[in-house]
Amino acid sequence: MKVLFIGDIYMELGQKAFNKYFLSVKNEHKPHFIIVNGENIEKGNGLSKEIYKEYLEQGVNVFTLGNHAFSRRDAREVLDLPYVTRPANYGLGTMGKEWVEYNYNGQKIVVINLLGRVFMRDPIDNPFTKADEILKKVTADYVIVDFHAEATSEKYALAHYLDGRVDAIIGTHTHVPTADNMVLPKGTLFQSDVGMTGAKYSIIGGEVAQGIRKFISGVPERVKPEINSVLQFNACILDLDNKTIERINIYEE
Ligand SMILES: [Fe+2]
Ligand SMILES: [Fe+2]
Repeated sequence: MKVLFIGDIYMELGQKAFNKYFLSVKNEHKPHFIIVNGENIEKGNGLSKEIYKEYLEQGVNVFTLGNHAFSRRDAREVLDLPYVTRPANYGLGTMGKEWVEYNYNGQKIVVINLLGRVFMRDPIDNPFTKADEILKKVTADYVIVDFHAEATSEKYALAHYLDGRVDAIIGTHTHVPTADNMVLPKGTLFQSDVGMTGAKYSIIGGEVAQGIRKFISGVPERVKPEINSVLQFNACILDLDNKTIERINIYEE
């Protein structure tokens, strides 16, 4: 089972980068299953029904989200779409699904999205014990976790905690790809962050001038996306049976 995992597609330039590189990446690597982190895909953050439909038609199978899962007015409708999962460790009664099950030619693939707690704002449940809870409930041929978190240490701790119990754990959220794609001792594939798809010259997707201004003044501003930049496309390709994980990092000149 070959899986293509595309990191946070960030707004308009993220969509542009996806449209530009997705087909060639897909044709080169021939994945059976494609996951996209879509927490920043639309203007104002979050995933829309239109993008969901459009991307599924192009071969994407499942969308994961993150801390922006609930930013949109129509979040409930989006989270109810069959192949969208939000971070599982929000509290009881939260809208949306804690995981998604996908039937691929009779094989069951479970995709779980979890949110980190270190340097993150929302008062969420423990991702470690939440993972235990979900893994007790699901039976699957393959389990893939998107761990949407800021702190590298938390990502490594969860990865080792789940080593041998899930097929892959891929980090998202920092928007910067790490070079630590590896097979953990008990066989789980891991990369602490897959990186972002969007504007190359940006402050993790946001406008450069604004990002600098905010750090100088300390005054908070709603993030504006950078729209004047060449593109980056970041993903990884996982072979769950042969246990390989390869990075795909395209940076335009
Ligand atoms: Fe993001
Ligand atoms: Fe995020």
